[in-house]
Amino acid sequence: MSDSPDDAITRAAEQIAEADHLCVMTGAGASAESGIPTFRDALDGLWSKYDPTDLATPEAFNRDPATVSRWYEHRRQLCLGCEPNPGHHALAELQRAFLEADRQFTLITQNVDGLHQRAGSQDPIQLHGSLFQWRCIACEQRHEPGDQEPETFPPPCPACEQPLRPSVVWFGEALPPEALAAAGDAAEGCDVFLSIGTSSQVQPAASLAWTAVHGGATLIEINPDPTPVTSRADAAISLPFTTAMDRLLSELSEIG
Ligand code: OAD
Repeated sequence: MSDSPDDAITRAAEQIAEADHLCVMTGAGASAESGIPTFRDALDGLWSKYDPTDLATPEAFNRDPATVSRWYEHRRQLCLGCEPNPGHHALAELQRAFLEADRQFTLITQNVDGLHQRAGSQDPIQLHGSLFQWRCIACEQRHEPGDQEPETFPPPCPACEQPLRPSVVWFGEALPPEALAAAGDAAEGCDVFLSIGTSSQVQPAASLAWTAVHGGATLIEINPDPTPVTSRADAAISLPFTTAMDRLLSELSEIG
Protein backbone atom coordinates (compact mmCIF):
# COMPACT_ATOMS: atom_id res chain seq x y z
CA MET A 1 0.00 0.00 0.00
CA SER A 2 1.67 3.31 -1.03
CA ASP A 3 0.59 6.50 0.73
CA SER A 4 2.03 9.51 2.47
CA PRO A 5 4.25 8.99 5.53
CA ASP A 6 1.64 10.82 7.64
CA ASP A 7 -1.16 8.45 6.60
CA ALA A 8 1.14 5.44 7.03
CA ILE A 9 2.17 6.59 10.53
CA THR A 10 -1.47 7.09 11.54
CA ARG A 11 -2.46 3.67 10.28
CA ALA A 12 0.57 2.01 11.85
CA ALA A 13 -0.15 3.63 15.22
CA GLU A 14 -3.77 2.45 15.09
CA GLN A 15 -2.63 -1.13 14.42
CA ILE A 16 0.11 -1.13 17.08
CA ALA A 17 -2.26 0.39 19.67
CA GLU A 18 -4.53 -2.64 19.24
CA ALA A 19 -1.78 -5.29 19.02
CA ASP A 20 -1.67 -8.09 21.59
CA HIS A 21 1.69 -9.29 20.21
CA LEU A 22 3.98 -6.89 18.36
CA CYS A 23 6.96 -8.53 16.61
CA VAL A 24 9.68 -6.13 15.44
CA MET A 25 12.56 -7.09 13.15
CA THR A 26 15.43 -4.68 12.55
CA GLY A 27 18.22 -4.55 10.01
CA ALA A 28 21.29 -2.40 9.47
CA GLY A 29 19.17 0.65 8.57
CA ALA A 30 18.19 0.91 12.25
CA SER A 31 21.85 1.61 13.12
CA ALA A 32 22.62 3.85 10.11
CA GLU A 33 21.82 7.04 12.06
CA SER A 34 24.21 5.89 14.78
CA GLY A 35 27.02 6.07 12.22
CA ILE A 36 27.29 2.34 11.53
CA PRO A 37 27.40 1.58 7.78
CA THR A 38 24.71 -0.65 6.30
CA PHE A 39 25.66 -3.47 3.94
CA ARG A 40 23.94 -2.68 0.66
CA ASP A 41 23.47 1.08 0.52
CA ALA A 42 25.09 1.94 -2.79
CA LEU A 43 27.46 4.64 -1.59
CA ASP A 44 28.85 3.52 1.74
CA GLY A 45 27.48 0.03 2.27
CA LEU A 46 30.06 -2.41 3.62
CA TRP A 47 29.56 -4.75 0.68
CA SER A 48 30.22 -1.90 -1.75
CA LYS A 49 33.70 -1.50 -0.24
CA TYR A 50 34.57 -5.05 0.71
CA ASP A 51 33.88 -8.40 -0.94
CA PRO A 52 31.88 -10.40 1.62
CA THR A 53 33.42 -13.63 0.30
CA ASP A 54 36.83 -12.30 1.43
CA LEU A 55 35.67 -11.50 4.96
CA ALA A 56 32.32 -13.03 5.90
CA THR A 57 32.62 -16.76 5.10
CA PRO A 58 34.17 -19.75 6.95
CA GLU A 59 36.47 -20.23 3.93
CA ALA A 60 37.76 -16.66 4.27
CA PHE A 61 38.53 -17.24 7.96
CA ASN A 62 40.28 -20.54 7.25
CA ARG A 63 42.26 -18.86 4.45
CA ASP A 64 43.29 -15.79 6.46
CA PRO A 65 42.12 -15.86 10.10
CA ALA A 66 44.22 -12.84 11.06
CA THR A 67 42.68 -10.52 8.44
CA VAL A 68 39.11 -11.71 9.06
CA SER A 69 39.36 -11.47 12.86
CA ARG A 70 41.08 -8.07 12.58
CA TRP A 71 38.18 -6.80 10.35
CA TYR A 72 35.55 -7.97 12.82
CA GLU A 73 37.48 -6.37 15.69
CA HIS A 74 37.57 -3.14 13.64
CA ARG A 75 33.76 -3.31 13.29
CA ARG A 76 33.43 -4.04 17.03
CA GLN A 77 35.57 -1.02 17.92
CA LEU A 78 33.48 1.11 15.52
CA CYS A 79 30.31 0.00 17.32
CA LEU A 80 31.86 0.77 20.73
CA GLY A 81 32.49 4.30 19.45
CA CYS A 82 28.87 4.75 18.36
CA GLU A 83 25.78 5.41 20.46
CA PRO A 84 22.25 4.06 20.20
CA ASN A 85 20.14 6.58 18.25
CA PRO A 86 16.73 7.97 19.31
CA GLY A 87 15.06 5.21 17.29
CA HIS A 88 16.75 2.53 19.42
CA HIS A 89 15.60 4.32 22.57
CA ALA A 90 12.06 4.73 21.23
CA LEU A 91 11.91 1.01 20.45
CA ALA A 92 13.06 0.18 24.01
CA GLU A 93 10.38 2.55 25.34
CA LEU A 94 7.73 0.85 23.21
CA GLN A 95 8.79 -2.55 24.54
CA ARG A 96 8.51 -1.27 28.13
CA ALA A 97 5.01 0.08 27.43
CA PHE A 98 3.92 -3.27 25.99
CA LEU A 99 5.37 -5.23 28.92
CA GLU A 100 3.76 -2.86 31.47
CA ALA A 101 0.41 -3.44 29.74
CA ASP A 102 1.04 -7.19 29.85
CA ARG A 103 1.10 -7.33 26.05
CA GLN A 104 3.62 -9.45 24.10
CA PHE A 105 6.60 -7.78 22.41
CA THR A 106 9.35 -9.59 20.49
CA LEU A 107 12.43 -7.87 19.09
CA ILE A 108 14.33 -9.76 16.41
CA THR A 109 17.48 -8.18 15.03
CA GLN A 110 19.81 -9.05 12.16
CA ASN A 111 22.27 -6.52 13.58
CA VAL A 112 25.36 -7.61 15.48
CA ASP A 113 26.24 -4.17 16.90
CA GLY A 114 24.65 -4.47 20.36
CA LEU A 115 22.93 -1.07 20.10
CA HIS A 116 19.45 -2.36 20.96
CA GLN A 117 20.77 -3.77 24.25
CA ARG A 118 22.66 -0.54 25.01
CA ALA A 119 19.40 1.40 24.47
CA GLY A 120 17.64 -0.81 27.02
CA SER A 121 15.80 -3.26 24.76
CA GLN A 122 15.35 -6.56 26.59
CA ASP A 123 16.19 -9.99 25.19
CA PRO A 124 16.55 -9.20 21.49
CA ILE A 125 16.72 -12.33 19.34
CA GLN A 126 20.12 -11.88 17.64
CA LEU A 127 19.56 -13.85 14.43
CA HIS A 128 23.06 -13.20 13.07
CA GLY A 129 25.00 -13.34 16.35
CA SER A 130 27.01 -10.58 17.94
CA LEU A 131 30.31 -8.75 17.45
CA PHE A 132 30.60 -8.76 21.25
CA GLN A 133 31.21 -12.44 21.60
CA TRP A 134 34.05 -14.60 20.24
CA ARG A 135 33.88 -18.40 20.01
CA CYS A 136 36.68 -20.95 20.04
CA ILE A 137 36.89 -22.93 16.78
CA ALA A 138 38.09 -25.96 18.77
CA CYS A 139 36.41 -26.13 22.20
CA GLU A 140 33.50 -23.83 21.31
CA GLN A 141 33.99 -21.83 24.51
CA ARG A 142 32.34 -18.40 24.28
CA HIS A 143 34.41 -15.38 25.24
CA GLU A 144 33.18 -11.80 25.78
CA PRO A 145 36.10 -9.52 24.83
CA GLY A 146 36.78 -6.36 26.87
CA ASP A 147 36.89 -2.89 25.31
CA GLN A 148 40.61 -3.31 24.48
CA GLU A 149 41.75 -4.77 21.18
CA PRO A 150 43.22 -8.27 21.37
CA GLU A 151 47.05 -8.35 21.23
CA THR A 152 47.18 -10.99 18.53
CA PHE A 153 44.87 -11.96 15.63
CA PRO A 154 43.08 -14.28 15.74
CA PRO A 155 42.98 -14.03 19.55
CA PRO A 156 43.75 -17.32 21.34
CA CYS A 157 41.06 -19.14 23.31
CA PRO A 158 41.70 -18.57 27.04
CA ALA A 159 40.85 -22.23 27.68
CA CYS A 160 42.69 -24.13 24.96
CA GLU A 161 44.84 -21.56 23.08
CA GLN A 162 43.18 -22.42 19.74
CA PRO A 163 41.93 -19.46 17.57
CA LEU A 164 38.79 -17.59 18.56
CA ARG A 165 36.38 -16.51 15.79
CA PRO A 166 33.65 -13.87 15.93
CA SER A 167 30.27 -15.28 17.00
CA VAL A 168 28.68 -13.76 13.89
CA VAL A 169 26.84 -15.82 11.26
CA TRP A 170 28.87 -15.97 8.04
CA PHE A 171 27.49 -16.51 4.55
CA GLY A 172 26.86 -20.19 4.02
CA GLU A 173 26.45 -20.86 7.75
CA ALA A 174 23.27 -21.86 9.54
CA LEU A 175 21.71 -19.35 11.90
CA PRO A 176 21.69 -20.23 15.62
CA PRO A 177 18.84 -22.81 15.66
CA GLU A 178 17.29 -21.59 18.91
CA ALA A 179 17.27 -17.99 17.71
CA LEU A 180 15.74 -18.92 14.36
CA ALA A 181 13.07 -21.07 16.01
CA ALA A 182 12.15 -18.30 18.47
CA ALA A 183 11.97 -15.76 15.64
CA GLY A 184 9.79 -18.04 13.55
CA ASP A 185 7.42 -18.66 16.45
CA ALA A 186 7.13 -14.93 17.14
CA ALA A 187 6.51 -14.10 13.47
CA GLU A 188 3.88 -16.83 13.25
CA GLY A 189 2.13 -15.80 16.47
CA CYS A 190 2.17 -12.01 16.31
CA ASP A 191 -0.71 -9.86 15.15
CA VAL A 192 1.48 -6.96 14.02
CA PHE A 193 4.92 -7.38 12.37
CA LEU A 194 7.07 -4.24 12.13
CA SER A 195 10.02 -4.52 9.71
CA ILE A 196 12.61 -1.76 10.21
CA GLY A 197 15.68 -0.84 8.19
CA THR A 198 16.24 -4.05 6.29
CA SER A 199 16.52 -4.63 2.54
CA SER A 200 14.64 -7.90 3.11
CA GLN A 201 17.06 -9.74 0.81
CA VAL A 202 18.90 -12.14 3.12
CA GLN A 203 17.27 -15.44 3.99
CA PRO A 204 15.97 -16.86 6.24
CA ALA A 205 15.44 -13.50 8.04
CA ALA A 206 13.73 -12.04 4.98
CA SER A 207 11.02 -14.71 5.11
CA LEU A 208 9.84 -13.75 8.61
CA ALA A 209 7.66 -10.90 7.34
CA TRP A 210 5.91 -13.34 5.00
CA THR A 211 5.50 -15.88 7.81
CA ALA A 212 3.76 -13.15 9.82
CA VAL A 213 1.52 -12.16 6.90
CA HIS A 214 0.57 -15.80 6.25
CA GLY A 215 -0.29 -16.02 9.94
CA GLY A 216 -2.76 -13.17 9.49
CA ALA A 217 -0.58 -10.37 10.92
CA THR A 218 -0.67 -6.74 9.86
CA LEU A 219 2.62 -5.79 8.18
CA ILE A 220 4.23 -2.39 8.82
CA GLU A 221 7.55 -1.29 7.31
CA ILE A 222 9.90 1.57 8.18
CA ASN A 223 12.40 2.19 5.38
CA PRO A 224 13.10 5.31 3.28
CA ASP A 225 13.67 3.04 0.27
CA PRO A 226 11.35 0.42 -1.24
CA THR A 227 12.05 -3.26 -0.52
CA PRO A 228 10.42 -6.58 -1.57
CA VAL A 229 7.90 -6.25 1.28
CA THR A 230 6.90 -2.59 0.71
CA SER A 231 4.09 -3.31 -1.72
CA ARG A 232 2.58 -5.89 0.69
CA ALA A 233 2.84 -3.64 3.77
CA ASP A 234 -0.44 -2.46 5.27
CA ALA A 235 1.51 0.66 6.27
CA ALA A 236 4.80 1.55 4.53
CA ILE A 237 6.49 4.42 6.39
CA SER A 238 9.06 5.83 3.95
CA LEU A 239 11.03 7.72 6.59
CA PRO A 240 14.32 7.18 8.41
CA PHE A 241 14.15 5.07 11.58
CA THR A 242 14.58 7.86 14.13
CA THR A 243 12.01 10.16 12.48
CA ALA A 244 9.49 7.37 12.01
CA MET A 245 9.80 6.11 15.60
CA ASP A 246 9.49 9.64 17.01
CA ARG A 247 6.31 10.25 14.99
CA LEU A 248 4.94 6.79 15.79
CA LEU A 249 5.37 7.17 19.55
CA SER A 250 3.75 10.63 19.42
CA GLU A 251 0.73 9.19 17.61
CA LEU A 252 0.56 6.27 20.07
CA SER A 253 0.61 8.62 23.05
CA GLU A 254 -2.28 10.59 21.51
CA ILE A 255 -4.26 7.37 21.06
CA GLY A 256 -3.51 6.58 24.69
P1 OAD B 1 21.13 -3.84 4.13
O1 OAD B 1 22.33 -2.96 4.03
O2 OAD B 1 20.93 -4.95 3.13
O3 OAD B 1 19.81 -2.96 4.08
C1 OAD B 1 19.73 -1.80 4.89
C2 OAD B 1 18.36 -1.20 4.67
O4 OAD B 1 18.23 -0.10 5.55
C3 OAD B 1 18.13 -0.67 3.25
O5 OAD B 1 16.88 -1.12 2.77
C4 OAD B 1 18.13 0.85 3.43
O6 OAD B 1 17.20 1.47 2.54
C5 OAD B 1 17.63 0.99 4.85
N1 OAD B 1 18.05 2.21 5.54
C6 OAD B 1 19.15 2.95 5.34
N2 OAD B 1 19.17 4.01 6.20
C7 OAD B 1 18.04 3.90 6.97
C8 OAD B 1 17.47 4.66 8.01
N3 OAD B 1 18.07 5.77 8.47
N4 OAD B 1 16.30 4.24 8.56
C9 OAD B 1 15.68 3.14 8.10
N5 OAD B 1 16.15 2.36 7.09
C10 OAD B 1 17.32 2.75 6.54
O7 OAD B 1 21.14 -4.45 5.61
P2 OAD B 1 20.29 -5.67 6.15
O8 OAD B 1 18.96 -5.76 5.47
O9 OAD B 1 20.29 -5.55 7.63
O10 OAD B 1 24.31 -10.45 7.38
O11 OAD B 1 21.20 -6.92 5.71
C11 OAD B 1 20.85 -8.21 6.16
C12 OAD B 1 22.11 -8.99 6.40
O12 OAD B 1 22.99 -8.94 5.24
C13 OAD B 1 22.95 -8.46 7.55
O13 OAD B 1 22.51 -8.91 8.78
C14 OAD B 1 24.33 -9.02 7.20
C15 OAD B 1 24.34 -8.70 5.71
O14 OAD B 1 25.26 -9.48 5.01
C16 OAD B 1 25.11 -10.98 8.38
O15 OAD B 1 25.79 -10.30 9.12
C17 OAD B 1 25.03 -12.46 8.46
